[in-house]
Amino acid sequence: MKKWPLIHTPLPGPKARKLINQDRTYVSPSYTRYYPLVVEKAKGLWVHDVDGNIFLDFTAGIAVCATGHCHPRIIKAIKKQADLLLHMSGTDFYYRPQIILAKKLANLMPGKGAKKVYFGNSGAEAVEAAFKLARWHTKRELNLAFYGAFHGRTMGALSLTASKTIQKKHYNPLVPGITHIPYSYCYRCPYNLCYPECELGCVRWVEDTLFRTTIPPEEVAAIFVEPIQGEGGYIVPPPDFHREMNKIAKKYGILYVADEVQSGMGRTGKMFAMEHFGVDPDIIALAKGIASGMPLGALTARAEIMDWEAGSHASTFGGNPVSCMAALATIELLEEGLMENAAVQGKHLMDGLIKLQQSHECMGDVRGKGLMVAVEFVKDRETKEPARTWRNDIIKHAFEKGLLLLGCGENSIRFCPSLTVNTTEIDKCLSIFDDVVREMAL
Ligand SMILES: Cc1ncc(COP(=O)(O)O)c(C=O)c1O
Repeated sequence: MKKWPLIHTPLPGPKARKLINQDRTYVSPSYTRYYPLVVEKAKGLWVHDVDGNIFLDFTAGIAVCATGHCHPRIIKAIKKQADLLLHMSGTDFYYRPQIILAKKLANLMPGKGAKKVYFGNSGAEAVEAAFKLARWHTKRELNLAFYGAFHGRTMGALSLTASKTIQKKHYNPLVPGITHIPYSYCYRCPYNLCYPECELGCVRWVEDTLFRTTIPPEEVAAIFVEPIQGEGGYIVPPPDFHREMNKIAKKYGILYVADEVQSGMGRTGKMFAMEHFGVDPDIIALAKGIASGMPLGALTARAEIMDWEAGSHASTFGGNPVSCMAALATIELLEEGLMENAAVQGKHLMDGLIKLQQSHECMGDVRGKGLMVAVEFVKDRETKEPARTWRNDIIKHAFEKGLLLLGCGENSIRFCPSLTVNTTEIDKCLSIFDDVVREMAL
């Protein structure tokens, strides 16, 4: 393989520095950038910056570029559709790409019976639509969501989010009627219990305490849940968590809404992460990886749930024909082998990180499924004191060595490369990561 990554300027390089200065003048300061990467072009897992430096990308543009950067089949599908039709608006007119993609997604959604699909442009829009649909269908006003959850930043989705206070600061009052409950984060159990002896105390608490004291279950429309918490730290709940939570939901006529925006579209080795837990959700929110980088959000639901009337919800750009064709090409590639590759390479990545954990005390926990993998950093394995600054320093240092990583949670680093990643690229990532942690002598 080529001798990449290749870093031949100080970072940021001169061209990057100039652009960042302009960005500071003209672009919203609300964005969070971990390090000064200014991208010129990218192919597969390799990202070139404006100064000719070449990086190994284990972020996939925040878990978006499922098929790798600029996969030739995706580019071909985009170009072909761009020649035919760029936009017409699926809200007021019909066109083939939206209908074919809806049929495909409806057939992919787990569970028996007919399904229907709503299209938006982003993860937040998919969640927002789920929020409105749950209210519409159930005519109930209350909802449950989880601490640590990230569902997006529009007012409805933000109301369900409970990730970082900066995301909510000065935006109150938010949408009322949402109660956040603890997620099943066994490495730091909010109830100080141990799985499996706890017998899922966190789930029982919902029925035994919450539904008896403050929340009448017959007024709850939906439970919004990430099958694996993403921005919250790539937290994988125990195997029976969703099954038991869903049982409670079913008992009280509450919808189980899976936010698969980050975990879906093959990333975990299955099309939807909820398939690992044996639960068929009532509604699934999708975005990110669905169209390999083209903007698209989708909501799939059992047909009897998607019973809202014409005019009740829509978006001008939702289901853009070019994005729909990119999504169809993405799904084809996932089914042809990328999803399987995610499972195989994900195991290789996990095994490699678990091996490194033996020599790096600061790697408190290694967890994940498929190519949704994270390392949680601690100052001490016994006390589990979160190592927030170390985590940030590791990400910066990895960037300087040509490896692109992103954080998640307070003190974790996520590894979410494209599903095209190969063994050599994973070994390269592991070797740089090992060097970085070793050199920092944590
Ligand atoms: C699980 C989950 N839901 C929703 C969103 C929001 O998606 P978007 O940024 O496309 O609005 C994200 C984004 O990170 C996410 O991870």
